[in-house]
Amino acid sequence: MAERKRMFDYAMDFVMLASVAATSYILVRNYITPYISTLVDPDREKHEQARIKAKANLQRLRRSKTSEITAGDNSDSSRQGPRVEELVLNEYENMVALEVVAPEDIPVGFDAIGGLEDIIEELKESIIYPLTMPHLYSHGGPLLSAPSGVLLYGPPGCGKTMLAKAVAHESGASFINLHISTLTEKWYGDSNKLVRAVFSLAQKLQPAIIFIDEIDAVLGTRRSGEHEASGMVKAEFMTLWDGLTSTSASGQPARIVVLGATNRINDIDEAILRRMPKKFAVPLPDKEQRRRILQLVLGDTKTDPEHFDMEYVAKVTAGMSGSDIKEACRDAAMIPMREYIREHRASGAGMTSVDPSRVRGLQTEDFFGRKGGNQSLAQDIRKSQSAAKPRPKSSSSGYETVEEEPLAEVVD
Ligand SMILES: Nc1ncnc2c1ncn2[C@@H]1O[C@H](COP(=O)(O)OP(=O)(O)O)[C@@H](O)[C@H]1O
Ligand SMILES: [Mg+2]
Repeated sequence: MAERKRMFDYAMDFVMLASVAATSYILVRNYITPYISTLVDPDREKHEQARIKAKANLQRLRRSKTSEITAGDNSDSSRQGPRVEELVLNEYENMVALEVVAPEDIPVGFDAIGGLEDIIEELKESIIYPLTMPHLYSHGGPLLSAPSGVLLYGPPGCGKTMLAKAVAHESGASFINLHISTLTEKWYGDSNKLVRAVFSLAQKLQPAIIFIDEIDAVLGTRRSGEHEASGMVKAEFMTLWDGLTSTSASGQPARIVVLGATNRINDIDEAILRRMPKKFAVPLPDKEQRRRILQLVLGDTKTDPEHFDMEYVAKVTAGMSGSDIKEACRDAAMIPMREYIREHRASGAGMTSVDPSRVRGLQTEDFFGRKGGNQSLAQDIRKSQSAAKPRPKSSSSGYETVEEEPLAEVVD
């Protein structure tokens, strides 16, 4: 009897133990493990989000590529690279995929850029054609392939970023708009993986352009006191970059170009400069270029044919960048509008009866803010010319006579 009781106790103990073990297993599996894994990988959620966003982003890219294939008569699938839906990306590539911009999402085309026709033509010849039509260039061997690095440099506001965007838009190549913040992830260990992902993703999406705006900030000269890891990141970047020129298994070099833009070419590492054999200076616009920019920026803004002299405005804006000219036009265009609203209010009419067609056309003197207190152009002109021309003469028109000075041509 006692024997039986003991057996029963053992059995009970066993059942108890088993149920405790099972409960613990369920607890650990369902609640504790996910908690621990978030502790071990605090970025899990971020990575998951990146994955979802990257997928959506690439989905859009796929749509644009498929429509491109159906729109064109191109049956050569190798030209388009692998199909986007077949891509398998790791978590780092997913992070980088967030920076991929579909060409049709870029609103800038070459026709929106004023006065840089020569550079545009060269960019087409050296980047777009070799990237998108490699079969045309293949018989020339590696000499005719796209350079692996292209640099746009010059003073700020002259259209470098705009040019890069237009290249992406017009080429239809995948455009990885690489931001510094992406590469300098919080954990330095990750940075190298991200750099590798940039190139492996570009490889998967080729033809591709890796664009680094303000490249001096990302890959500038190493300064003392700089974190060692960023030196490592740069080294990794350069090694992978060099790998672009070596031919792949198919015997073709990778169709990937690193495109950089900078205002401060002097701050860029020699090693980086060497890897960008094609350099394009984007200088301050000369008079003819300023006239083109004015035409583009003013677009169909109403002008007063009798009192608006575009030649004159193009002349007095010497030394100003495209971006300055755009701002000056914006300020000037506000003046007729402001005037009209003031008059309208003064006449006691309600704002509902405002009629945009009654706003007067833009006049040359609006650029000088004589009526609206806007002094920006006058100040800019004075600033840009004080260096070159000691004393501007007065002309019969009452404006300062300004001649084209060499300053406008100088690149920093
Ligand atoms: N050549 C140009 N033609 C038309 N607009 C220009 C030109 N250059 C500059 N701009 C205007 O100035 C803005 C700033 O130019 P951006 O390309 O960002 O200059 P950068 O990158 O050289 O500093 C552009 O968005 C555009 O509106
Ligand atoms: Mg820029």
